[in-house]
Amino acid sequence: MIRVGVNGFGTIGRRVADAVAKQPDMKLVGIVKTKPDYKAKIAAQKGYTLFGVDDKSIQSFKDAGYKPGGNVENLLSQVDVIVDATPEDVGAAYKEMYRKTGKKAIFQGGEEHDIAEVSFVAQCNYDLAKGKQFIRAVSCNTTALSRTLHTLDQAFGVKRARIVIARRASDPDEPTKGPIDSVNLDPVTIPSHHGPDVQTVLPHIPIVTMAYKIPTTHMHLHSVIVSLKENGVTEDRIINAFKEAPRILLVSQKDGIRATAHVMDYARELGRNRGDLYEPAIWKESIKVVDGEAYFFMAVHQESIVVPENVDAIRAVTGSASKSESMAMTNKTLGILN
Ligand SMILES: NC(=O)c1ccc[n+]([C@@H]2O[C@H](COP(=O)([O-])OP(=O)(O)OC[C@H]3O[C@@H](n4cnc5c(N)ncnc54)[C@H](OP(=O)(O)O)[C@@H]3O)[C@@H](O)[C@H]2O)c1
Repeated sequence: MIRVGVNGFGTIGRRVADAVAKQPDMKLVGIVKTKPDYKAKIAAQKGYTLFGVDDKSIQSFKDAGYKPGGNVENLLSQVDVIVDATPEDVGAAYKEMYRKTGKKAIFQGGEEHDIAEVSFVAQCNYDLAKGKQFIRAVSCNTTALSRTLHTLDQAFGVKRARIVIARRASDPDEPTKGPIDSVNLDPVTIPSHHGPDVQTVLPHIPIVTMAYKIPTTHMHLHSVIVSLKENGVTEDRIINAFKEAPRILLVSQKDGIRATAHVMDYARELGRNRGDLYEPAIWKESIKVVDGEAYFFMAVHQESIVVPENVDAIRAVTGSASKSESMAMTNKTLGILN
């Protein structure tokens, strides 16, 4: 069994912890939080051991009636791999602690690319991560773009990609963040950071992205234009390439799915943990080829798309399974069909 700890138990950390707890070859040793709130309460009800960040934090867990397992260092001493799901830039502050102990760490997309040896998306570069100490599971948008552009690149060759990203304003547990009545250019300048981030996974793909924030909490929406190297590619061939690729979902307006709200409602019907959707959803009818350029709309569930990547990264760094074995095991336990 691979012993795993999760440092940070917010949007990403609690999903990764639940996913790790479901793996037949992993043991979730514990999770780190700063304070005892409803998320800590439910974690304890699930039987997860809670760790605090410092003496004050540990005391707050004791005062609330929990029996904390100690601090981050105490958790580290008991694991083979730590998944760092702390807020942006906090992971970087922990890196030296992880390095000193020689423990393997999986960071998240909020950290800079150079925090790790590999920026990771399982279907693109699983083998590069084998045996490494530090891996970065890239952001939600980068994961979605890497999976889909890699698929098109393998099938037809990608000359260049241009993407406009409408970003969700905040996660559902952040009710004080906005905008609530505005579309915020984020950033105003072009390109946004997303393109260069995709190149940390797929360095050879020329890509430009632009992004803005919209008043919604549940998904990002990408408008994608990709110039293909192969001439004469049809819409049907692109649909087939996406159908055959792992962890990409095709949705259809014929089924009444015409909005991100429909995609999330559909995801709830799938009955996975929290109603999560681990695949980017591409509208079949939006796939169009004009003058050698492929167009499509893609929705990304920001809270959950990186969860399978974190699980696969754990197996990659420990060298405990091949890419196909790991992806199959992760898919089966999370209810991902393809
Ligand atoms: N949210 C997304 O859509 C998304 C998608 C993909 C990637 N990511 C990336 O994933 C990472 C985590 O993001 P998130 O959205 O999950 O953050 P989040 O919801 O704010 O959760 C952060 C967690 O870290 C804990 N924490 C705060 N300071 C800490 C410290 N010093 N030591 C240990 N734990 C600490 C918090 O504890 P408390 O709960 O006690 O406050 C919380 O549980 C970031 O790099 C982010 O960019 C986020």
